[in-house]
Amino acid sequence: MAGRREDAVWRDERMARAFLRGVRAGIPYAGIQIDVMVRLAEALGREVRKFVDIGCGDGPLSEALLERWPSAKGTLVDFNALMLKEAGKRLKQRGSGHRFIRADLAERGWTRRIKERAPFDVCVSGFAIHHQADPAKRRIYRDVLSLLRPGGLFVNIDHVASRSAWGKGAADALFADSLGRSAPKAGLDDDTREAVEDLLSRPGRDSTPLSPVETQCEWMREIGFTDVDCFFKAFDLALFAGRRLEKRTGQER
Ligand SMILES: C[S@@+](CC[C@H](N)C(=O)[O-])C[C@H]1O[C@@H](n2cnc3c(N)ncnc32)[C@H](O)[C@@H]1O
Repeated sequence: MAGRREDAVWRDERMARAFLRGVRAGIPYAGIQIDVMVRLAEALGREVRKFVDIGCGDGPLSEALLERWPSAKGTLVDFNALMLKEAGKRLKQRGSGHRFIRADLAERGWTRRIKERAPFDVCVSGFAIHHQADPAKRRIYRDVLSLLRPGGLFVNIDHVASRSAWGKGAADALFADSLGRSAPKAGLDDDTREAVEDLLSRPGRDSTPLSPVETQCEWMREIGFTDVDCFFKAFDLALFAGRRLEKRTGQER
């Protein structure tokens, strides 16, 4: 039986706006995540000229890359038209030649329209892939590998599974505290505040098919990424990354 898609919530404009106005600024350690992401790209030892941001939202990860490499060309992918429009506004003053592509990561062939811009030096993703069931996550990682140049980097910042109910409780408490401290709640109109509540307390939020970061790193190694590691983790928020081998060895599957 085809169930309701876990990522369906992001098709809803009201929810997307609630995330942008009321939640993004409250993600715990968001500044550190972005710093680690940029440092990993710097560690490639060459300029980032082309990158792709999958599930880009309004483009905060792309903006961070463009701040560091102002002449880079971004390809931003999302299935929500509002998000792509907001990303366009955010990157307006950040160079030219960026492309905003509406595509669904859950569909086979989502890379078709992106391939013409490949190979990319870097692929980033923030909080977009965890909604997918495990086989789909693996397939997306395989697709990403095919988009990277040899030596290119994939950085995924995402929700991962907590190892215990106790750990999950602590993670939820951190998120609630961080949201309370940072989200500009006072400045939100009633509708948006209500939408934020609906987004965070939506039925099924807890049934999102999260996977442990160790498992996901192992998948990436099996698929053919190298140098895979979890480079930053706080509770259930992880930043894990890997590179495409410099030379093909036939190990890529
Ligand atoms: C939590 S938001 C994060 C946005 C942005 N990456 C950030 O770090 O702020 C998740 C984003 O992933 C997008 N998304 C979720 N599932 C997707 C899918 N199957 N295909 C394309 N985009 C997806 C949503 O539309 C949304 O913009």
